[in-house]
Amino acid sequence: MQQFQWVAAFETGIDVVDSQHKRIFEYLKEVDNAIKLQDNDAIKAVAKALIDYSISHNAFEETLMERAKYPVLAAHSKVHEAFRARALSYDKRLEAGEDPIKVAKEVRSDIGLWLTNHIQRDDKDYVPYVKKSLEGGFVSRMIKRCFA
Ligand SMILES: [Fe+2]
Repeated sequence: MQQFQWVAAFETGIDVVDSQHKRIFEYLKEVDNAIKLQDNDAIKAVAKALIDYSISHNAFEETLMERAKYPVLAAHSKVHEAFRARALSYDKRLEAGEDPIKVAKEVRSDIGLWLTNHIQRDDKDYVPYVKKSLEGGFVSRMIKRCFA
């Protein structure tokens, strides 16, 4: 099984995004551990947590991109939407009682590969826009705080 882990090359420099990406890699590890233990309840629970968290993370990224008026937001959202549909189909299969080990193996490979590629290609592209918008917010908040 290919291992997925967060490496420095994935760093966007946006703390909140980086910590969420790291959390997804932790979930991937948790899924692997549950598969090793062959604990079906744990496998289902962590696979579902991984799916939920990844979808929420993408939605969070979209709010950052919106706020930053990122010009390629529509295309990025489409990529997220396709991911969401796939992730939810795994969730449905788990709910339908399919072998959790089989589904979880697919989930971890699919999400692991998707995330590694997505961070390095699509996410890297929004970084300068989002960074700028966050800095702007920070500066205006500090101005209000100091000069009110
Ligand atoms: Fe993204």
